[in-house]
Amino acid sequence: MFFTPGEVAEVDLADRLVVVVDVLRATSTIVEALANGARAVVPVATIEEALRLVRNLGREGALLCGERGGLRIEGFELGNSPAEFTAERVAGKTLVMTTTNGTAALVGVAGARRVYVGAFANLGAVAAAVADADADVAVVCAGRGRRFALEDALCAGALLRRVRARRGRGVRAGNDAAWVAQRLARSLVDPAPVLRRTAAARELVAVGLGADVEWCTVVDRSGVVPVFRERQVTL
Ligand code: MLT
Repeated sequence: MFFTPGEVAEVDLADRLVVVVDVLRATSTIVEALANGARAVVPVATIEEALRLVRNLGREGALLCGERGGLRIEGFELGNSPAEFTAERVAGKTLVMTTTNGTAALVGVAGARRVYVGAFANLGAVAAAVADADADVAVVCAGRGRRFALEDALCAGALLRRVRARRGRGVRAGNDAAWVAQRLARSLVDPAPVLRRTAAARELVAVGLGADVEWCTVVDRSGVVPVFRERQVTL
């Protein structure tokens, strides 16, 4: 597993099943959007790319989504708050999304054998999908500004613990990061108190988005397993 996308080399992706985690908030939001009937989420790294893509797709069935500094980008229909992605807003739509860290992390692992989108919101569902697949797994945390983010590490650790519990004995222990992350998550019952004290959470609270932090701490609120392939995330 990898605490930041910058640690991942091409060789780490080949033949691997990758789970990308950005708890606050990109992957939590993608899970909610697809659970509420979005046709697809197309993650892109930059605002310019998002605008170009939406011009090509046509505004009819597509929505521009994403944030910079936590806030909705000017001219975009939706920000990055999971609660905004209701069935009324997103059902049947293609969501072109750009966020500070999460969407770039997804784009960066496009070369893997299979890529899942994970968060606390769909922890059990992703763990089951990973455990049942016959492939090595690598969890890639989006992190914050190319640095370690506690909320992603905690979620990755909880995910790996669930995968190992389900696969049973004979599972390879993984790298040092995987060991640390699993130790971190060992006595985890409710991620909320830890998540609230993270730098990302404090930044969201500072811009009036504290409700999103609470939303993203809820474990297993959704049973969907989004898959990223051919440039889009679908169920
Ligand atoms: C990200 O992709 O960096 C995050 O989702 C930031 C956020 O919107 O909270």
